[in-house]
Amino acid sequence: MNARVEIAAPVAIDQPLISCVELGHVYDSDRGRTTALGNITLTIDRGEFVCVLGPSGCGKTTLLNILAGFIAPSHGNIRVDGRAIEGPSSERGVVFQDYSLFPWLTAQVNVEFGLRMACRAARERADIARELLKLVGLPEAGPKYPFELSGGMKQRIAIARALATRPSLLLMDEPFAALDAMTRSALQTKLLDIHSQERPTILFVTHNIAEALVLGSRLIVMSPNPGRIVEDIRLDLPRPRRRTSPRFNELYEHVARAIGLETAE
Ligand SMILES: Nc1ncnc2c1ncn2[C@@H]1O[C@H](COP(=O)(O)OP(=O)(O)O)[C@@H](O)[C@H]1O
Ligand SMILES: [Mg+2]
Repeated sequence: MNARVEIAAPVAIDQPLISCVELGHVYDSDRGRTTALGNITLTIDRGEFVCVLGPSGCGKTTLLNILAGFIAPSHGNIRVDGRAIEGPSSERGVVFQDYSLFPWLTAQVNVEFGLRMACRAARERADIARELLKLVGLPEAGPKYPFELSGGMKQRIAIARALATRPSLLLMDEPFAALDAMTRSALQTKLLDIHSQERPTILFVTHNIAEALVLGSRLIVMSPNPGRIVEDIRLDLPRPRRRTSPRFNELYEHVARAIGLETAE
């Protein structure tokens, strides 16, 4: 008798982590309507490090806010891990430009915040926070308050906090924009370490072409009025990325032209 092997329906691990179909967002305000996002159709696979680049007003923050579950899109369909977004979730970590730490909580308690929300035990929270503070290179910062920390340190804490619940998706909106060049470069290296160790999917908004080319496995270039994707480039540069390599410079020129041409419209 032939044995019939039942194969369980596979977990849809191959399906993209993020899938947007004709996603759009319109803001209605006293000053009229703004189409922040036109029709965005986009898929992002697990583990991708996607940099999003584009001039002010092209809808980058709106896209991240939708993915974070902070705002609902006006139209279109968006799924993360096969599910509709119903609000913020511990599966999505968020890091914004302005550090956004709770000033009245120590670094340790800031890092533990999502874990507290998820009702994890105090001992476990403390262990996770300690590991993450080490991972971001601030093992001693736990008892300090945000006002005692530099901008770069606060941003490291914000990254540690976003990682605490082991999110499958990390949403970062110009996280290093306010930092000096050396701190920025150190944090870029740190983020690449984290990506290679933890393999979260990352959506990273930046104004800086070189930063996008150093970090991303993929680069999405957006343009305003209405916000839309004008380029979607797989970054085939070997790591570690060398800013002096001919391919790096070729891509830099290409992206600069894409942004320049689009903003000149
Ligand atoms: N809360 C809001 N109310 C009205 N208009 C908004 C609001 N947020 C953003 N916008 C407008 O939507 C467009 C896209 O904004 P945003 O997503 O912040 O772009 P970016 O992050 O690329 O600079 C801009 O024209 C901006 O002025
Ligand atoms: Mg923005």
